[in-house]
Amino acid sequence: EAFVNVEPVTPLVEAVETAVVDALRRALPETGGPEPLVRRSDRADYQANGALPLAKRHGRNPRELGEAVAAAIDAPDLIATAEASGPGFVNIAITSEAVWKQVAARLDADRLGVGLPLAGERIVVDYSGPNVAKEMHVGHLRTTIIGDALARLAEALGATVIRQNHLGDWGTQFGMLIQYLSEHPEAEWHRADEADPTANVAVLDRLYREARAVFDADPAFKERARARVVALQGGDEDSRRVWGDLVDVSAAAFDAIYERLGVGLTAADLAGESTYNHLLDGVVAELVEAGIAVESEGALCVFFEDVTGPDGEPVPLLLRKADGGYGYAATDLAAIRHRIGDLKADRILYVVDARQALHFKQVFATARRAGWLSGDVEAVHVPFGTVLGPDGRPYKTRSGGTVRLMGLIDEAIAKAGAVIAEKHPAGEDLAELAAATGIGAVKYADLSNNRIKDYVFDSDKMVALTGDTGVYLQYAHTRLASILRKAGAMTAPMAPAAPMSREERALALHLDAYGAVLAEAMAEREPHRLCGYLYALARAFTGFYEANPVLKAESDEARDNRLALVRLARETLAHGLGLLGIAAPDRM
Ligand code: ARG
Repeated sequence: EAFVNVEPVTPLVEAVETAVVDALRRALPETGGPEPLVRRSDRADYQANGALPLAKRHGRNPRELGEAVAAAIDAPDLIATAEASGPGFVNIAITSEAVWKQVAARLDADRLGVGLPLAGERIVVDYSGPNVAKEMHVGHLRTTIIGDALARLAEALGATVIRQNHLGDWGTQFGMLIQYLSEHPEAEWHRADEADPTANVAVLDRLYREARAVFDADPAFKERARARVVALQGGDEDSRRVWGDLVDVSAAAFDAIYERLGVGLTAADLAGESTYNHLLDGVVAELVEAGIAVESEGALCVFFEDVTGPDGEPVPLLLRKADGGYGYAATDLAAIRHRIGDLKADRILYVVDARQALHFKQVFATARRAGWLSGDVEAVHVPFGTVLGPDGRPYKTRSGGTVRLMGLIDEAIAKAGAVIAEKHPAGEDLAELAAATGIGAVKYADLSNNRIKDYVFDSDKMVALTGDTGVYLQYAHTRLASILRKAGAMTAPMAPAAPMSREERALALHLDAYGAVLAEAMAEREPHRLCGYLYALARAFTGFYEANPVLKAESDEARDNRLALVRLARETLAHGLGLLGIAAPDRM
């Protein structure tokens, strides 16, 4: 059995912090809680900034305290030099030996030495949530990609992740659509192009809009549609069967998109609105009994002191309409109760469009009042901005319709294929590679953007081989893989006593910060931090490789050390891309 070191590797920054804390205790014995504040720095390897606030608090001269701390540092294996600078900063350089050993330790360790800080935590990630009989739109692309990355990230940090696809599969609109379909047997929606399951939904989407138009214009149809809702909710067999077909056809289309994207959402993760239907009466009764839901003009609502509209009037959460129908909010309340009570979630992340912020604020506040959401359980809306077209306006087709997601993905793949083909004049079959790079490009463009900001979907830019793109990172990965391939069996143990160049050091210290970046990206639920880190990694590698030949190194020791660094860089880059849901090909 292979030996696997499951203990996390202590990052150098933490080891430095410990050394500085010790030094501070010696230099300023009266200090209570020391604040070493150690960071990566351009001036040295690390800088400790804690002496300044401490000197102020204890009436000491910051510069002198900085000098005293620097002088008191005693960690000869780790710290080569410690020098005071400015008003109480301490610049710290690490010994080359400690840095090389750190590279070796990470290569030896399981999971690159990254710990499992979320072990024991159960996290529900609510993402994707497209709507039945409607096409997935670009907004659903964002929640799907961001949610998938956050779920992978949480799992990598040790959490138990429960994916929940809150499918929009229930509501009065289905009465309308089913009625319309029953009156238009010629529509043959379920026999549309079988080869592309998303084409069926495109047909449904059109029929849905037709039904809506008739519903708005024809009071008699409106009545029949209402009666159909009642029939559907009452379990009428015909209505149920058509509804079931609609759900199946739509789910098949969504699955096709998930599969194309390589997103880990399966039938097991489906928890559509309809699954909460049988709970709604009970949930609402509980809220009425607790005095949380109150009647208002025939409807049932929850009011909030701090939620008012622009006119200063309270904006209630509508649980049940005057006609007795439950809406989106009642379902989300049943869902949150279920997720905490039955799924035993410690944390629930709702990866949903920023425009639903008020809805979630109200749902969480209601759940808190009801006592479902309490103690250590946390519910968070993870909002994201709107997808814009290259013209800077919300992404639409020229005629103003929704852009077909499959079309968008295909386009990115075609463009990525053209970019790669330029590097393959022999004309091999590049379809698989084009898919990996095109999809990687779409995901990276989305994820590298600050989540909360609107973002411009520009398929030409996202497939560029240079700049901050997925293709560039994948290409960096192939360069790393190619060096290792050429090295073949040429791998020997490292030589920690060998010297270390500036670029080697920069790359090694960057790699050592991987775990911290993962924890930070998760804590802030911001995948773009990981993207930024990986981009910087690719650049640090480029800087290293330009100045430090690997296979033709000046000595065997230098070659072995550099190969180790290349290996760690490749593994870290592949791992990070994996968390973003992006493939890391060995050749391009
Ligand atoms: N179906 C909704 C939409 O398309 C998204 C559902 C989000 N999740 C939730 N629990 N409300 O906007």
